[in-house]
Amino acid sequence: MKRWMTLTIFTGALLMTTLAPAGETPQPGSTTKKSFGKTPDGQPVDLYVLTNKSGAEGSITNYGGAVVSLKVPDRSGKLADVVLGYDTADGYVNDKSYFGALVGRYGNRIGHAQFVLDGKTYTLAKNNGENSLHGGIKGFNKALWKAKTFSKKDCQSLELSYLSKDGEEGFPGNLKVIVTYTLTDANALRIEYSATTDKKTVVNLTSHSYFNLAGQGSGDILGHLLTIQADKFTPVDASLIPTGEFRDVGGTPFDFRKPTAIGARIDRDEEQLKLGNGYDHNFVVRRSADTGESLAARVVEPASGRVMEVWTTEPGVQFYTGNFLDGKTPGKGGVAYPRRNAFCLETQHYPDSPNQPKFPSVVLNPGERYNTITTYKFSVEK
Ligand code: GLA
Repeated sequence: MKRWMTLTIFTGALLMTTLAPAGETPQPGSTTKKSFGKTPDGQPVDLYVLTNKSGAEGSITNYGGAVVSLKVPDRSGKLADVVLGYDTADGYVNDKSYFGALVGRYGNRIGHAQFVLDGKTYTLAKNNGENSLHGGIKGFNKALWKAKTFSKKDCQSLELSYLSKDGEEGFPGNLKVIVTYTLTDANALRIEYSATTDKKTVVNLTSHSYFNLAGQGSGDILGHLLTIQADKFTPVDASLIPTGEFRDVGGTPFDFRKPTAIGARIDRDEEQLKLGNGYDHNFVVRRSADTGESLAARVVEPASGRVMEVWTTEPGVQFYTGNFLDGKTPGKGGVAYPRRNAFCLETQHYPDSPNQPKFPSVVLNPGERYNTITTYKFSVEK
């Protein structure tokens, strides 16, 4: 009895230190945990609020590992939330757009929802026409992840882990996944992905944040200036599966090698733009080094001065202009998110890699470790 009481008091004290009292403003350089609702089968879902020493704030839920909000300053220091999302776990349970989510086991499409490994055909659910999209019907974006927080001198981290069982959504191998989000005092959100398997499998993890650097819910992103460090992109067929070609961006609306407004050419009468309903394409990232992160893209929102750079170890980035957003599902604070009110820069391996011999391999063998890093760095331009 006495032991039980001691335990209760001890647990209570621990909880008090980690749970933010309702309404309290998070302290700079801290992480707080709040209740965010429940999964459909009644499990509690949490929201972790990471606040850095300069006041920027990233909120992440352990449901789908989604980035729920990201507040960064404009050139006068005013914070705005630059990602689309929902106010409660329910929004993420019902979401079909992958707002902020961790996407896996395979980010983007696998053609005809099947692939072959060592002569064996693996069949996945067709959840996007004939294809498999973003890990299947219950991808990592619909999983409840285990969470651990830790802080260092100049950053706040949230470590999320998930075991994707052998056969889940048709993929082979028990895949142990760890994703660590870190908000640094220099206003960067770093995402480190790691995974191991006990059977040969394919893996392609990404983060599906929808950005609007003017602030979520504030209109379209067509005036944002985008640079993508890519000389080539991978054109797609009518079902958005790469044809296998690497096409030069030069002379096409896919040339973002110099800062260009996202909307400058988006409605051109061009085959690839018509197929994507706008931009929904993988770009081949020009690597600046053999190892480590390379700059993949830079986005400037001229009115606020907010700048976002995307650095990654990944070979590709899917640039998607929110062409399927329809404004019908209310987001945070009840705001609507119509078509092209946000853009995504999903760092990853190329779509359909398991079926494309010319694309870099996405195979993970037992004994190997999948390890990738992507950092979203925020700053301002005067
Ligand atoms: C990716 C795909 C798009 C779309 C979105 C989610 O970016 O390439 O076609 O499916 O995810 O809506």
